[in-house]
Amino acid sequence: MQFDLATTDALLSTTRAVRKRLDLDRGVPREVITECLELAVQAPTASNSQSWRWLVIDDPAKRLALAEIYRKGALPYLASPLKASNEADPGQGERVRDSAQWLAENLEKVPVHVIPCVEGRPPTGAPPMISAGVFGSIFPAVWSFQLALRARGLGSALTTLHLLHEQEAAELLGLPDNVMQVALLPVGYTRGTDFKPAVRPPVSGITHWNGW
Ligand SMILES: Cc1cc2nc3c(=O)[nH]c(=O)nc-3n(C[C@H](O)[C@H](O)[C@H](O)COP(=O)(O)O)c2cc1C
Repeated sequence: MQFDLATTDALLSTTRAVRKRLDLDRGVPREVITECLELAVQAPTASNSQSWRWLVIDDPAKRLALAEIYRKGALPYLASPLKASNEADPGQGERVRDSAQWLAENLEKVPVHVIPCVEGRPPTGAPPMISAGVFGSIFPAVWSFQLALRARGLGSALTTLHLLHEQEAAELLGLPDNVMQVALLPVGYTRGTDFKPAVRPPVSGITHWNGW
């Protein structure tokens, strides 16, 4: 099969964390979410465990309750000093914070919340082989889901701040004890589809060949 590299590379390089450009007024049909999840579960998992589970929330009252849980963790976190900086684009950190703040204040208005989960949880102090196996069996699928959304004119952002109050969200959503949430993705159609590649430091400065 020949891939159209221009389209493929554009998809890979312009799938951004979308927050302010999510269309809050346009509903998302459940079939679109299902179609993207069907693509997502083509992703790899450790020992082919396929231990992913997906919670999709489109009920407005539950979205509001989740947004309140998210804000409880996010607002104090976002008020603390910025840690990350990007020398190639010094304004990037502040723009991300501003966008993240907007999301925290408006999360309940985003039409769909998707919570990717895994069955099982790495034990405290688990060695990298175990924790990489657990988290590495869900995040490739999450990214495929986000790419599939983008290809269909929808956007999302991978967020983790609601996990500061993970148990409260678990109780709200009736999660069994053996299922761990790993993220919360607000999902909606985007206003416009003209996203750009982000400025990143050159790969040559962060890549080591044949030893560090
Ligand atoms: C593990 C992880 C956790 C993240 N958590 C949050 C979050 O809680 N809230 C949020 O608004 N964005 C969150 N993000 C999104 C990042 O801020 C975003 O990916 C980054 O700023 C780069 O933006 P870009 O994808 O548009 O280039 C998270 C991203 C990752 C990979």
